[in-house]
Amino acid sequence: MTLLCTLTACGHNSPPPATVENTAAGSSAVASDPTALGKTLYIKKGCTACHTVDGSPRVGPSWKQPDWGKTIELASGGSVTMDESYLRESILSPQAKARPGYPTVMPSFDGQLRDDELAGLIAYIKSLKQP
Ligand code: HEC
Repeated sequence: MTLLCTLTACGHNSPPPATVENTAAGSSAVASDPTALGKTLYIKKGCTACHTVDGSPRVGPSWKQPDWGKTIELASGGSVTMDESYLRESILSPQAKARPGYPTVMPSFDGQLRDDELAGLIAYIKSLKQP
């Protein structure tokens, strides 16, 4: 029974290797910081092609604009409050409430982001829009 004894550790509950714990702690640190996740996805999902985070214009509006909570004009002629639901809709259906003066080129990311990824991007964009 020496082999079985080795496999079951004979009832001794040895703690899991430190490396496993470190890995788990590392990923939950990102998961618990949506803004950090959003910052990573900004690059990983290719938002960089059209959006800057320093206020300078690119294809689309820079995410760094102190317009959080403000009323913004839409290409359709209406207006909307810059809030989380507007950001969410702009990522899932970019043309639903498009900004005037920009080409309607943003692809929909519906079905391409997990819920926590969408929340992360929203948190990151929001952090840049607060003065
Ligand atoms: C091919 C270019 C392109 C890419 C790639 C792109 N966007 Fe856009 N985005 C635009 C344009 C152009 C607009 C403005 C017109 C509109 O509202 O559709 C816009 C608007 C937005 C808005 C509304 C911003 C505001 O200030 O009103 C959000 C939020 C947004 N994009 C998020 C994203 C995210 C998140 C990604 C990456 C996952 C992304 N975009 C990738 C072109 C792009």
